[in-house]
Amino acid sequence: MAPRETAAGAAREDRRAFFTRLFWGLAGLLGALVGVPVLGAFLSPGFRKPEKAQWTVIGPADRFTEEPSLAHHVHPAHEGWVNVTGEMQVWVVRDPQGAYKIFDNHCTHLGCPFHWEAADKRFFCPCHNGVFGADGRVLSGPPPRPLDYYESKIEGGILYMGALRRGGT
Ligand code: FES
Repeated sequence: MAPRETAAGAAREDRRAFFTRLFWGLAGLLGALVGVPVLGAFLSPGFRKPEKAQWTVIGPADRFTEEPSLAHHVHPAHEGWVNVTGEMQVWVVRDPQGAYKIFDNHCTHLGCPFHWEAADKRFFCPCHNGVFGADGRVLSGPPPRPLDYYESKIEGGILYMGALRRGGT
């Protein structure tokens, strides 16, 4: 083979190798440009700081007994740029050990409000006959889990409610 042809073949090989490296380099760069934000979107919730509970006054703690009673509270909410407040209801129970449970007033089946039936010592949801105990457990009917509840704390004799928790957790 003539030296001129060998040099041309080597140049062609170099060019091919250069374009192959360029192709894979650009493909890698494009993959990183698309992949890093997508991966970040999937992983970021795991690194997000948990929201601080906003504590809301329910009332004097000694007002509540082992007999569930309805309490009203003003619930602050944020919708976009607008701050909205609405009056909401919760059921408050003090258990025999003296711990307070604050139940959200919506059934865990389809969200109907329920009420306390003192004679039968049970919470009853009239929508589909869901029945819960005073401790929030499902006793019968379609509700898939115990009543949702709010975190609670007492300071200076006042009962506060915090973040909403899923029933059974
Ligand atoms: S919504 Fe309460 S039982 Fe269905």
